[in-house]
Amino acid sequence: MPDLWQEAMDHAVALARKAGGIVREALQNDMKIMCKSSSVDLVTKTDQKVEQLIIASVKEKFPTHSFIGEESVAAGEPCVLSDNPTWIVDPVDGTTNFVHGYPFVAISIGFAANKQLEFGVVYSCLEDKMYTARKGKGAFCNGEPLQVSDQTDINQSIIATEFGSNRDPEVVDKIFSSMRKVLCLPIHGMRGVGTAATNMCLVAAGCVEAYYEIGIHCWDIAAGAVIVSEAGGVLMDVEGGPLDLMSRRVVAANNKTIAQRLTKEIEAYPAQRDDAPINSKE
Ligand code: IPD
Ligand code: CA
Repeated sequence: MPDLWQEAMDHAVALARKAGGIVREALQNDMKIMCKSSSVDLVTKTDQKVEQLIIASVKEKFPTHSFIGEESVAAGEPCVLSDNPTWIVDPVDGTTNFVHGYPFVAISIGFAANKQLEFGVVYSCLEDKMYTARKGKGAFCNGEPLQVSDQTDINQSIIATEFGSNRDPEVVDKIFSSMRKVLCLPIHGMRGVGTAATNMCLVAAGCVEAYYEIGIHCWDIAAGAVIVSEAGGVLMDVEGGPLDLMSRRVVAANNKTIAQRLTKEIEAYPAQRDDAPINSKE
């Protein structure tokens, strides 16, 4: 069967590499920092410039394709996944890291057709690590195959998570409560590098057994989801059902045993869906 999407994936890799160069260069200059939903939800001119570059280039090469891009959605574009081939783009995943020079920043490009994820590209540009995965063809980092950890005992694991950007004290209490429960299982350690996409690639690489978060967006996890599953891992909702890309909740793990054990400790709460009608959003 012909691989319909290989040309698109090759283009995504080239664009992610180019975008990474822009991000690295921008780190040398003064940056103008702006806020989105709150004072801790940051965006810079680089986020916007990189997204515009990616979208303009894809539009030229694949004029019929659709987009969901973090900064376009912030500017009022709809966030709806249709059956049309759709690029799901986070131009700078880890904007807070980028602003502070904390050395994990990724460009994340996922691609879906008929609502099925087909490939994912995550370029961790400060480490120069290009993670790629195409459905059915395995996951790679700089061309080397990736394989999740074979650990099945959560007590022998490292679990990654993040604090996100919601500072509502009730939400923060739930985050800490889940972290406390997970940490006290006990597990070997908890980590989080400040980018959801990179955390997922670390699951794929076998460095951490699982990553979970409530409050992420589809553009943070679309590419990483393909990379994790192609490295042999599993994706789930934080309450154990199938992953819903638009639900803003994710568990990505090396296997079902670890994922299901983890879901027992997570204090789940609903987050406003990415595809909620714009006029229903806070
Ligand atoms: C954020 C990062 C962070 C995660 C947040 C995301 P951004 O993405 O992935 O690790 O905790 O939930 O929103 O805003 O840097 O693209
Ligand atoms: Ca971003």
